Amino acid sequence: MRYLAGLIMVLILTGCGDKAQETHYNGAALLEKKCGICHNLKMPPDTYEDEKAPPMMAVVFHLKDFMKIKDNEDKAKKFIPFIQDYTLEPSREKSYCDEASLDAYGLMPSQKGNVTEDELKAIAEYIFTFYDQEKYLKEMQEKAAFYALPKGEQLVRKSGCLNCHDIQKAKVGPSFAMIANKGAEEIIDVIQNGSQGKWEGFHNMLMPAFKNKFTQDELRILQEWIHTLGTKDKASP
Ligand code: HEC
Ligand code: HEC
Repeated sequence: MRYLAGLIMVLILTGCGDKAQETHYNGAALLEKKCGICHNLKMPPDTYEDEKAPPMMAVVFHLKDFMKIKDNEDKAKKFIPFIQDYTLEPSREKSYCDEASLDAYGLMPSQKGNVTEDELKAIAEYIFTFYDQEKYLKEMQEKAAFYALPKGEQLVRKSGCLNCHDIQKAKVGPSFAMIANKGAEEIIDVIQNGSQGKWEGFHNMLMPAFKNKFTQDELRILQEWIHTLGTKDKASP
């Protein structure tokens, strides 16, 4: 209990602290407005020819790496001051950019008059958290894992089928492995038109119709994928 009370206090205190800083400045909006004209802000960035500036993701990953930023203390002592200083007084000497990139992009024009130190603090706080290498890697891995799945499973995951169906186990509806012994036409018909009361033990739950959700090709891909689960099931002991 004591621990919980302490935790709540900490949450309240940090909550207030953050609020006081952020009510005036919205780092994301400022970044968009003040830096987005030259820096591509997406993660991962769009790539196009004749970029005016390196993508912000690249800038932040690069700076964290070269400045050896590890924790919030480094952020406060090194990262934020660098962003403030560089943006207002850029120079080749201060830049962590390599010579070739500096030549290609040209030095960043000073943003003095366009952005204040306090606004830069909010921007720096925001980009520090938003462009997070671990989060990015995890997203990329998840994406790669998704696209490595069979096309049918991708469709099922994208379309919310897994809210009601598990691949192997009964859930709100029968598992796809259980459905695998149904005929192709029936499977396609049910996906398009829905079904209710056919399966026992599922409380008469409704399978909604996905009438115009899928193309004929996609329906075929779904049906064929469901059928592959049957073969696998039977092969296993
Ligand atoms: C007019 C275009 C332009 C605008 C606006 C702009 N930048 Fe840049 N920025 C550049 C260019 C070009 C470079 C690459 C050359 C360099 O490092 O100076 C760069 C590089 C940087 C770097 C990298 C420095 C390094 O050592 O690698 C940081 C940090 C940076 N910008 C922050 C900002 C922030 C924050 C804003 C918004 C407040 C902003 N920039 C707005 C053009 C711009
Ligand atoms: C809201 C829950 C729900 C969602 C979402 C859902 N289903 Fe169903 N599904 C069910 C239920 C419940 C049944 C059993 C219906 C019955 O008993 O007639 C079922 C049955 C089926 C059947 C069985 C066909 C048969 O002839 O027995 C197939 C195929 C099927 N679903 C595919 C899908 C696909 C593909 C998706 C996603 C596009 C999906 N379902 C989304 C609940 C759902």
